Amino acid sequence: DSNFMVLGIETSCDDTGCAIVDSNGTILGESLHSQLKVHLDHGGIVPPVASDLHRAHIDQVVDEAIRASGVDIYDIAAIATTNRPGLPLSLEIGLLKGKKMARDLGVPFIPIHHMEAHALTIRMLEKDVQFPFLVLLASGGHCILAVAQQVDKFLILGQTINNAPGEQFDKAARKLNLKVIPGLENVCGGAAIEILARKGYSSAFPFSTSMTQYQDCNFSFAGITMNLYGHVKKIQKKFDLVDGDILPGLEDLCASYQHAVTKHICQRLQRAMEFVDRKELIPLGQGPRAFVVSGGVASNRYIKMAMEVICSEYDYKLYAPPPRLCTDNGVMIAWNGVERWKAQSGIAENLDDVDFYGK
Ligand code: KG4
Ligand code: ZN
Repeated sequence: DSNFMVLGIETSCDDTGCAIVDSNGTILGESLHSQLKVHLDHGGIVPPVASDLHRAHIDQVVDEAIRASGVDIYDIAAIATTNRPGLPLSLEIGLLKGKKMARDLGVPFIPIHHMEAHALTIRMLEKDVQFPFLVLLASGGHCILAVAQQVDKFLILGQTINNAPGEQFDKAARKLNLKVIPGLENVCGGAAIEILARKGYSSAFPFSTSMTQYQDCNFSFAGITMNLYGHVKKIQKKFDLVDGDILPGLEDLCASYQHAVTKHICQRLQRAMEFVDRKELIPLGQGPRAFVVSGGVASNRYIKMAMEVICSEYDYKLYAPPPRLCTDNGVMIAWNGVERWKAQSGIAENLDDVDFYGK
């Protein structure tokens, strides 16, 4: 069948992204505007600020992706845009733009589920990843463990019962005031902790393991962060320090915290793999089965290495998109549009019916 192109738009959180991807998975043009710096200064994402920044940059981001691709915009088969889940005020900006373009160009519109897009990105890069496969999405807003059975069919095995791991990494980094450390001013919380953890001992501070009494694959990260706060308090007391002061033993603290988060993720992953085997959800084929990990937290190399160990035990191969495709971007939305277009699934029949849905 013939090659076609989809333009994708992403504005669900704090990145304004656009890309044009073809049906072979070639990225023809892309553009991304990150709001990270502004939100770091605010100590977190302020939804109306995020929305204003999307509004200010969306046209320019889309124009840049089109210009970079060199594609005649009238050759595009469809427009895909994230409409769920996310910050409603942010989703709205991308959706208005995407629907307007679909109307102006007279092409079909495909509303995209942000997490489905994270899960499917790997199939653009690795043709070996076929349905069904196991997938863990761990980002600043989500933590989902699922079996991807088809483009539009996911069996959820576990989710976080409180906060997402990335959000917890960000909170921990703020508590430790990592952004004042030279070189870490402009990196997100998770990455800052990973960098410092490389120079620390992961067993220096004790952390309790969460959820071990529950026979499911759900996650809970809030307790691990509370544990960290406890250690911070003790160190502050011992050295007569206050919030914001850089703590002695900071690297050990980061390494131990990262290790506790990793251990929890791995315990749940192992349980999920046991369940998949018992229910024969993913058949053992010729080679190993696919375990896909994505979302911002998937760019953490320590967590990835630990998961590799579990994978080799249960006959899986770990696949992770490169970090720039693990975090939010327009490419994954365009590719999800390609997958949906190939399956002829979820294409909007009436643009007026497409709305945005919050978390
Ligand atoms: O997927 P993403 O860009 O945005 C969504 O949340 O959808 O993920 C961002 C999150 C942030 O919370 C950030 O702290 C976390 O991913 N993150 C990391 C690392 N890099 C980014 N967490 C742990 N280790 C990292 N290296
Ligand atoms: Zn995301």
